[in-house]
Amino acid sequence: MLDRNELKERIKQLKEEKNAVIVAHNYQNDEVQEIADVIGDSLALSRYCANNDKDVIVFCGVHFMAESAKILSPSKTVLLAEIDAGCPMADMITADALREAKKKYPGAVVVCYVNSSAEVKAESDICCTSSNAVEVVKSIPEKDILFVPDKNLGSYVAEKVPEKNIILWEGYCITHHRISVEQVREIKKIHPDALVLVHPECRKEVCEEADFVGSTKQIIDFAEKSEHSKFIIGTEMGVLYKLKRDNPDKTFYLLSQGLICPNMKKTTLESVYNALKEMKYEIKLDENIRLKAKKALDRMIRIG
Ligand code: 13P
Ligand code: SF4
Repeated sequence: MLDRNELKERIKQLKEEKNAVIVAHNYQNDEVQEIADVIGDSLALSRYCANNDKDVIVFCGVHFMAESAKILSPSKTVLLAEIDAGCPMADMITADALREAKKKYPGAVVVCYVNSSAEVKAESDICCTSSNAVEVVKSIPEKDILFVPDKNLGSYVAEKVPEKNIILWEGYCITHHRISVEQVREIKKIHPDALVLVHPECRKEVCEEADFVGSTKQIIDFAEKSEHSKFIIGTEMGVLYKLKRDNPDKTFYLLSQGLICPNMKKTTLESVYNALKEMKYEIKLDENIRLKAKKALDRMIRIG
């Protein structure tokens, strides 16, 4: 068995040998974020993967994120460090179910949160992430929008863009949806001088109680720039790694101890080492699906 330092050293060697880059989502285990070349939210990581010149991308995150990297970078070998790291929200919609819904709402433009499979993206008009969902919806000339699969992000957008008729899908994130407004009120009583920062995957009532609503990166940036020194964090606990590392003088309280995404936590140093050593688990996509999904992602990326 290799110890942590040996593992880190081997990963570094393999990375150079294979001309690889390690990308990690903000929710990854601390030890994975530590060895990553880049850490970010879904949008930043997609962009980074599309624009770097390495041959191999080792994705430390969940399946849909590695798929997005492959959609945008077809000539690269994209590896997902843990094969069964999925996203339960992404599994709450299938391409077949979306095709059925499109028949029901023929005039609606389909906006698809990137937390979805390549097949679902391929059936959509445009993608969005939690950091640009409002801008994406505002950019659409049509009034009727079928927003899939996150009903919480969809409700948040509906409030910000009231001129649109947003039809919601019955999907949600099991980690964020669990947070109740009572929990927010309770923790605010304990830390009355702290600002509440939450992810838009939280319920509408929770977002309404917050001082700031944003993607993982937007939450991290907000805390960094803010003059406040205490924050209650309403998103997955992995963001605490960067928040604490980069803001040693500030204090962060996790809104609930339940803010853990079990799938994000599957990836360890061993997973990254094995992925690089054995070149697994490679993401492969049907070219027809990839091209259609790319169209929806490209339309989003053009918005900026
Ligand atoms: P971000 O786009 O904010 O990184 O969110 C991804 C995600 O899965 C949140 O649960
Ligand atoms: Fe999916 Fe929620 Fe985990 Fe994000 S936190 S990857 S939405 S299950």
